Amino acid sequence: HTIALIFGGRSSEHGISCVTAGGILRQIDRSRFTVVPIGVTSEGRFVEVTGDPDHWQITDGTAPHVPDSGDEIILQQSRLGKGKVELRVVRDGGRLEHLADIDAVFPLLHGPYGEDGTIQGLFELWDVPYVGSGVLASAVSMDKDFTKRLLEGAGLDVARGVVARASEPRAAVRERASSLAFPLFVKPARAGSSFGVTKVDALENLDSALDEAFRFDPKVLIEQGVEGREVECGVLQGESGQAPRTSLPGEVVIGEDLAFYDYESKYFGKGTVTIEIPASIPAAHIASVREVAARAFDALELEGLARVDVFVTDGGDIIVNEVNTMPGFTQISMFPVLWENMGLSYTDLISRLIDNALE
Ligand code: DAL
Ligand code: MG
Repeated sequence: HTIALIFGGRSSEHGISCVTAGGILRQIDRSRFTVVPIGVTSEGRFVEVTGDPDHWQITDGTAPHVPDSGDEIILQQSRLGKGKVELRVVRDGGRLEHLADIDAVFPLLHGPYGEDGTIQGLFELWDVPYVGSGVLASAVSMDKDFTKRLLEGAGLDVARGVVARASEPRAAVRERASSLAFPLFVKPARAGSSFGVTKVDALENLDSALDEAFRFDPKVLIEQGVEGREVECGVLQGESGQAPRTSLPGEVVIGEDLAFYDYESKYFGKGTVTIEIPASIPAAHIASVREVAARAFDALELEGLARVDVFVTDGGDIIVNEVNTMPGFTQISMFPVLWENMGLSYTDLISRLIDNALE
Protein backbone atom coordinates (compact mmCIF):
# COMPACT_ATOMS: atom_id res chain seq x y z
CA HIS A 1 0.00 0.00 0.00
CA THR A 2 1.04 3.55 -0.67
CA ILE A 3 0.50 5.90 2.25
CA ALA A 4 0.63 9.68 2.23
CA LEU A 5 2.15 10.92 5.46
CA ILE A 6 0.99 14.50 5.94
CA PHE A 7 2.73 16.59 8.59
CA GLY A 8 3.64 20.11 9.69
CA GLY A 9 0.59 22.26 9.32
CA ARG A 10 -0.78 25.63 10.31
CA SER A 11 -1.08 25.14 14.06
CA SER A 12 1.33 26.07 16.83
CA GLU A 13 2.23 22.36 17.03
CA HIS A 14 3.78 22.39 13.53
CA GLY A 15 7.24 21.45 14.79
CA ILE A 16 5.99 18.64 17.02
CA SER A 17 4.13 17.18 14.07
CA CYS A 18 7.40 17.17 12.07
CA VAL A 19 9.25 15.41 14.87
CA THR A 20 6.56 12.75 15.07
CA ALA A 21 6.75 12.28 11.31
CA GLY A 22 10.47 11.67 11.65
CA GLY A 23 9.77 8.81 14.03
CA ILE A 24 7.27 7.22 11.70
CA LEU A 25 9.47 7.65 8.63
CA ARG A 26 12.25 5.87 10.50
CA GLN A 27 10.22 2.95 11.79
CA ILE A 28 7.31 2.25 9.45
CA ASP A 29 7.33 -1.25 7.97
CA ARG A 30 8.77 -0.64 4.50
CA SER A 31 7.99 -4.18 3.40
CA ARG A 32 4.31 -3.33 3.66
CA PHE A 33 4.04 0.38 3.01
CA THR A 34 5.44 2.86 0.53
CA VAL A 35 5.46 6.29 2.12
CA VAL A 36 4.94 9.54 0.27
CA PRO A 37 5.81 12.36 2.68
CA ILE A 38 3.82 15.56 2.26
CA GLY A 39 4.68 18.67 4.22
CA VAL A 40 2.22 21.39 5.07
CA THR A 41 3.89 24.75 5.59
CA SER A 42 2.89 27.04 8.44
CA GLU A 43 0.91 28.99 5.85
CA GLY A 44 -0.96 25.85 4.81
CA ARG A 45 0.72 25.06 1.47
CA PHE A 46 1.14 21.37 0.61
CA VAL A 47 4.71 20.78 -0.58
CA GLU A 48 7.11 17.99 -1.42
CA VAL A 49 9.52 17.27 1.42
CA THR A 50 12.36 14.91 2.15
CA GLY A 51 11.49 11.55 3.63
CA ASP A 52 14.85 11.40 5.38
CA PRO A 53 13.97 10.94 9.06
CA ASP A 54 17.19 12.60 10.24
CA HIS A 55 15.89 15.84 8.84
CA TRP A 56 12.85 15.77 11.11
CA GLN A 57 14.19 15.95 14.63
CA ILE A 58 14.83 18.52 17.30
CA THR A 59 18.32 19.97 16.83
CA ASP A 60 19.95 22.50 19.14
CA GLY A 61 16.68 23.01 20.97
CA THR A 62 14.79 23.91 17.82
CA ALA A 63 11.92 21.94 16.34
CA PRO A 64 12.05 21.36 12.57
CA HIS A 65 9.66 23.01 10.14
CA VAL A 66 8.44 22.40 6.63
CA PRO A 67 10.24 24.71 4.19
CA ASP A 68 8.26 26.23 1.36
CA SER A 69 9.84 24.73 -1.74
CA GLY A 70 7.74 26.81 -4.10
CA ASP A 71 6.29 23.66 -5.66
CA GLU A 72 2.77 22.82 -4.63
CA ILE A 73 1.24 19.40 -4.23
CA ILE A 74 -2.30 18.99 -5.41
CA LEU A 75 -4.31 16.12 -4.05
CA GLN A 76 -7.32 15.03 -6.00
CA GLN A 77 -9.69 12.14 -6.14
CA SER A 78 -8.16 9.64 -8.51
CA ARG A 79 -9.71 8.54 -11.73
CA LEU A 80 -8.54 5.09 -10.66
CA GLY A 81 -11.67 5.05 -8.56
CA LYS A 82 -12.96 4.94 -5.03
CA GLY A 83 -10.52 4.85 -2.18
CA LYS A 84 -7.57 6.27 -4.07
CA VAL A 85 -6.20 9.74 -4.24
CA GLU A 86 -3.90 11.02 -6.90
CA LEU A 87 -1.11 13.34 -5.93
CA ARG A 88 0.17 15.76 -8.48
CA VAL A 89 2.79 18.37 -8.05
CA VAL A 90 2.83 21.77 -9.69
CA ARG A 91 6.43 22.69 -10.44
CA ASP A 92 7.80 26.14 -11.06
CA GLY A 93 6.11 27.67 -14.03
CA GLY A 94 2.94 25.63 -13.63
CA ARG A 95 4.12 22.29 -15.04
CA LEU A 96 1.90 19.53 -13.60
CA GLU A 97 3.47 16.16 -12.78
CA HIS A 98 1.95 12.97 -11.50
CA LEU A 99 3.55 12.08 -8.17
CA ALA A 100 1.75 9.06 -6.77
CA ASP A 101 -1.54 7.29 -6.29
CA ILE A 102 -2.19 6.66 -2.65
CA ASP A 103 -4.37 4.15 -0.82
CA ALA A 104 -4.61 5.86 2.54
CA VAL A 105 -3.59 9.01 4.34
CA PHE A 106 -1.89 9.31 7.71
CA PRO A 107 -2.66 12.87 8.81
CA LEU A 108 0.04 13.26 11.38
CA LEU A 109 -1.05 16.75 12.28
CA HIS A 110 -1.65 18.21 15.71
CA GLY A 111 -3.94 21.06 16.57
CA PRO A 112 -6.27 23.19 14.44
CA TYR A 113 -6.38 22.43 10.68
CA GLY A 114 -5.15 18.91 11.28
CA GLU A 115 -6.55 17.33 14.39
CA ASP A 116 -9.81 19.24 14.32
CA GLY A 117 -11.85 17.66 11.52
CA THR A 118 -11.02 20.18 8.81
CA ILE A 119 -8.57 18.03 6.85
CA GLN A 120 -10.61 14.94 7.70
CA GLY A 121 -13.47 16.60 5.81
CA LEU A 122 -11.26 16.79 2.75
CA PHE A 123 -10.50 13.07 2.98
CA GLU A 124 -14.19 12.30 3.27
CA LEU A 125 -14.83 14.30 0.11
CA TRP A 126 -12.17 12.33 -1.74
CA ASP A 127 -13.39 9.07 -0.26
CA VAL A 128 -9.88 8.04 0.75
CA PRO A 129 -9.23 6.03 3.93
CA TYR A 130 -7.33 7.86 6.68
CA VAL A 131 -5.88 7.10 10.08
CA GLY A 132 -7.75 8.37 13.13
CA SER A 133 -11.06 9.91 14.02
CA GLY A 134 -13.67 11.33 11.66
CA VAL A 135 -14.84 14.90 11.18
CA LEU A 136 -17.20 15.31 14.13
CA ALA A 137 -15.11 13.39 16.68
CA SER A 138 -11.97 15.28 15.68
CA ALA A 139 -13.71 18.65 15.85
CA VAL A 140 -15.27 17.98 19.23
CA SER A 141 -12.07 16.59 20.73
CA MET A 142 -10.03 19.59 19.55
CA ASP A 143 -12.30 21.91 21.50
CA LYS A 144 -11.77 21.36 25.22
CA ASP A 145 -15.09 23.04 26.03
CA PHE A 146 -17.13 20.74 23.80
CA THR A 147 -15.11 17.72 24.88
CA LYS A 148 -16.07 18.40 28.47
CA ARG A 149 -19.73 18.84 27.65
CA LEU A 150 -19.91 15.48 25.89
CA LEU A 151 -17.90 13.68 28.55
CA GLU A 152 -20.11 15.13 31.28
CA GLY A 153 -23.12 14.02 29.29
CA ALA A 154 -21.68 10.51 29.35
CA GLY A 155 -21.37 10.67 33.12
CA LEU A 156 -17.61 11.23 33.30
CA ASP A 157 -15.96 13.75 35.60
CA VAL A 158 -14.17 16.82 34.25
CA ALA A 159 -12.50 19.79 35.92
CA ARG A 160 -14.72 22.66 37.04
CA GLY A 161 -14.33 25.62 34.79
CA VAL A 162 -15.78 28.48 32.78
CA VAL A 163 -15.35 29.68 29.21
CA ALA A 164 -14.02 33.13 28.39
CA ARG A 165 -14.23 34.93 25.06
CA ALA A 166 -11.82 37.50 23.74
CA SER A 167 -14.78 39.67 22.77
CA GLU A 168 -16.30 40.04 26.24
CA PRO A 169 -15.39 42.54 28.97
CA ARG A 170 -12.73 41.27 31.37
CA ALA A 171 -14.87 42.24 34.35
CA ALA A 172 -17.49 39.73 33.23
CA VAL A 173 -14.85 37.03 32.90
CA ARG A 174 -13.42 37.74 36.36
CA GLU A 175 -16.91 37.65 37.81
CA ARG A 176 -17.61 34.27 36.25
CA ALA A 177 -14.28 32.87 37.36
CA SER A 178 -14.75 34.04 40.95
CA SER A 179 -16.59 30.84 41.83
CA LEU A 180 -13.44 28.81 41.12
CA ALA A 181 -10.72 28.01 43.63
CA PHE A 182 -7.03 28.68 42.96
CA PRO A 183 -4.86 27.54 41.39
CA LEU A 184 -6.55 28.09 38.05
CA PHE A 185 -5.38 26.86 34.68
CA VAL A 186 -6.05 29.19 31.80
CA LYS A 187 -5.85 27.52 28.42
CA PRO A 188 -6.82 28.06 24.80
CA ALA A 189 -9.90 25.95 24.02
CA ARG A 190 -8.34 24.64 20.81
CA ALA A 191 -4.62 24.12 21.08
CA GLY A 192 -2.25 21.44 22.28
CA SER A 193 1.17 20.75 23.76
CA SER A 194 0.34 23.28 26.49
CA PHE A 195 0.74 26.23 24.13
CA GLY A 196 -0.74 29.30 25.78
CA VAL A 197 -1.43 27.55 29.09
CA THR A 198 -0.72 29.36 32.36
CA LYS A 199 -1.14 28.31 35.96
CA VAL A 200 -2.64 31.17 37.95
CA ASP A 201 -2.22 31.34 41.72
CA ALA A 202 -3.77 34.73 42.40
CA LEU A 203 -6.48 36.89 40.88
CA GLU A 204 -4.09 39.67 39.86
CA ASN A 205 -2.38 37.26 37.45
CA LEU A 206 -5.55 36.22 35.67
CA ASP A 207 -5.51 39.03 33.11
CA SER A 208 -2.05 38.32 31.76
CA ALA A 209 -2.84 34.60 31.60
CA LEU A 210 -5.95 35.40 29.55
CA ASP A 211 -3.90 37.62 27.23
CA GLU A 212 -1.48 34.76 26.67
CA ALA A 213 -4.22 32.21 25.96
CA PHE A 214 -6.08 34.59 23.64
CA ARG A 215 -2.95 34.77 21.46
CA PHE A 216 -3.82 31.22 20.42
CA ASP A 217 -7.59 31.19 20.46
CA PRO A 218 -10.43 33.70 20.99
CA LYS A 219 -12.07 31.02 23.13
CA VAL A 220 -10.36 30.16 26.40
CA LEU A 221 -11.03 27.87 29.34
CA ILE A 222 -10.45 28.86 32.94
CA GLU A 223 -10.33 25.70 34.98
CA GLN A 224 -9.91 24.91 38.61
CA GLY A 225 -6.73 22.91 39.16
CA VAL A 226 -7.32 19.32 40.14
CA GLU A 227 -5.31 17.94 43.02
CA GLY A 228 -4.23 14.63 41.73
CA ARG A 229 -1.70 12.71 39.75
CA GLU A 230 -1.42 13.27 36.01
CA VAL A 231 -1.96 9.99 34.25
CA GLU A 232 -2.25 9.24 30.52
CA CYS A 233 -3.87 6.23 28.90
CA GLY A 234 -3.49 4.98 25.34
CA VAL A 235 -6.58 3.78 23.50
CA LEU A 236 -6.82 1.89 20.24
CA GLN A 237 -9.93 1.12 18.27
CA GLY A 238 -11.09 -2.43 18.93
CA GLU A 239 -10.92 -5.13 16.29
CA SER A 240 -14.03 -5.27 14.09
CA GLY A 241 -16.66 -3.71 16.31
CA GLN A 242 -15.17 -4.82 19.64
CA ALA A 243 -14.67 -2.51 22.60
CA PRO A 244 -11.67 -0.18 22.43
CA ARG A 245 -8.40 -1.51 23.75
CA THR A 246 -6.67 0.45 26.50
CA SER A 247 -3.07 0.44 27.61
CA LEU A 248 -1.85 0.36 31.16
CA PRO A 249 -1.63 4.07 31.97
CA GLY A 250 1.57 6.02 32.43
CA GLU A 251 2.22 8.81 34.89
CA VAL A 252 3.92 12.10 34.34
CA VAL A 253 5.76 13.01 37.54
CA ILE A 254 7.04 16.56 37.59
CA GLY A 255 9.64 17.93 39.98
CA GLU A 256 9.33 20.89 42.33
CA ASP A 257 11.10 22.97 39.69
CA LEU A 258 8.05 22.93 37.40
CA ALA A 259 4.65 24.58 37.89
CA PHE A 260 3.08 22.07 35.49
CA TYR A 261 3.89 19.88 32.48
CA ASP A 262 4.31 22.71 29.98
CA TYR A 263 5.58 22.93 26.41
CA GLU A 264 9.27 23.35 27.26
CA SER A 265 9.19 20.45 29.70
CA LYS A 266 7.31 18.25 27.22
CA TYR A 267 9.81 18.55 24.39
CA PHE A 268 12.88 20.54 25.35
CA GLY A 269 14.03 19.01 28.60
CA LYS A 270 13.09 21.87 30.91
CA GLY A 271 12.80 20.86 34.56
CA THR A 272 12.52 17.41 36.06
CA VAL A 273 10.02 15.12 34.38
CA THR A 274 9.84 11.42 35.03
CA ILE A 275 7.55 9.19 33.03
CA GLU A 276 6.49 6.08 34.90
CA ILE A 277 5.00 3.20 32.95
CA PRO A 278 2.89 1.73 34.28
CA ALA A 279 1.81 4.46 36.69
CA SER A 280 2.52 3.45 40.27
CA ILE A 281 -1.01 3.95 41.51
CA PRO A 282 -3.22 1.33 43.16
CA ALA A 283 -4.49 -1.43 40.89
CA ALA A 284 -8.08 -0.34 41.44
CA HIS A 285 -7.23 3.18 40.22
CA ILE A 286 -5.47 1.75 37.17
CA ALA A 287 -8.59 -0.21 36.31
CA SER A 288 -10.72 2.93 36.73
CA VAL A 289 -8.44 4.96 34.48
CA ARG A 290 -8.68 2.34 31.74
CA GLU A 291 -12.43 2.13 32.06
CA VAL A 292 -12.80 5.91 31.90
CA ALA A 293 -10.46 6.12 28.89
CA ALA A 294 -12.52 3.54 27.00
CA ARG A 295 -15.76 5.29 27.92
CA ALA A 296 -14.37 8.63 26.76
CA PHE A 297 -13.31 7.02 23.45
CA ASP A 298 -16.83 5.70 22.94
CA ALA A 299 -18.59 8.84 24.19
CA LEU A 300 -16.74 10.97 21.66
CA GLU A 301 -17.14 8.30 18.93
CA LEU A 302 -13.41 8.26 18.29
CA GLU A 303 -11.72 6.00 15.77
CA GLY A 304 -8.23 4.64 15.37
CA LEU A 305 -6.35 6.01 18.34
CA ALA A 306 -6.43 8.45 21.23
CA ARG A 307 -4.53 9.34 24.32
CA VAL A 308 -6.84 10.18 27.21
CA ASP A 309 -5.21 12.39 29.86
CA VAL A 310 -6.72 12.28 33.34
CA PHE A 311 -6.09 13.26 36.92
CA VAL A 312 -6.39 10.62 39.61
CA THR A 313 -7.26 11.94 43.06
CA ASP A 314 -6.15 10.27 46.27
CA GLY A 315 -9.70 9.02 46.69
CA GLY A 316 -9.56 7.34 43.29
CA ASP A 317 -11.75 9.76 41.37
CA ILE A 318 -10.80 9.98 37.71
CA ILE A 319 -11.13 13.44 36.22
CA VAL A 320 -10.65 13.65 32.47
CA ASN A 321 -8.38 16.52 31.50
CA GLU A 322 -8.32 16.15 27.74
CA VAL A 323 -8.43 13.78 24.81
CA ASN A 324 -5.88 13.83 21.99
CA THR A 325 -7.05 12.29 18.74
CA MET A 326 -3.55 12.51 17.24
CA PRO A 327 -1.21 12.28 20.21
CA GLY A 328 2.51 12.97 19.96
CA PHE A 329 4.01 9.95 18.39
CA THR A 330 7.80 9.97 18.33
CA GLN A 331 9.39 6.74 19.41
CA ILE A 332 9.87 8.13 22.92
CA SER A 333 6.46 9.80 23.22
CA MET A 334 4.02 8.60 25.82
CA PHE A 335 1.53 7.03 23.39
CA PRO A 336 3.83 4.55 21.61
CA VAL A 337 5.74 3.79 24.78
CA LEU A 338 2.48 2.91 26.52
CA TRP A 339 1.79 0.42 23.74
CA GLU A 340 5.30 -0.95 23.74
CA ASN A 341 4.75 -1.72 27.39
CA MET A 342 1.68 -3.71 26.28
CA GLY A 343 3.79 -5.72 23.83
CA LEU A 344 2.95 -3.77 20.69
CA SER A 345 6.10 -2.45 19.04
CA TYR A 346 6.26 1.02 17.50
CA THR A 347 6.41 -0.47 14.01
CA ASP A 348 3.46 -2.79 14.63
CA LEU A 349 1.49 0.06 16.17
CA ILE A 350 1.93 2.13 13.00
CA SER A 351 0.90 -0.86 10.86
CA ARG A 352 -2.16 -1.47 12.99
CA LEU A 353 -3.32 2.13 12.68
CA ILE A 354 -3.00 2.02 8.91
CA ASP A 355 -4.72 -1.37 8.75
CA ASN A 356 -7.60 0.08 10.81
CA ALA A 357 -7.92 2.86 8.27
CA LEU A 358 -7.86 0.45 5.31
CA GLU A 359 -10.40 -1.97 6.86
N1 DAL B 1 -0.86 17.54 21.48
C1 DAL B 1 0.31 16.75 21.69
C2 DAL B 1 0.98 16.40 20.41
C3 DAL B 1 0.01 15.51 22.46
O1 DAL B 1 -1.04 15.47 23.02
O2 DAL B 1 0.81 14.61 22.50
MG1 MG C 1 -2.25 16.56 28.07
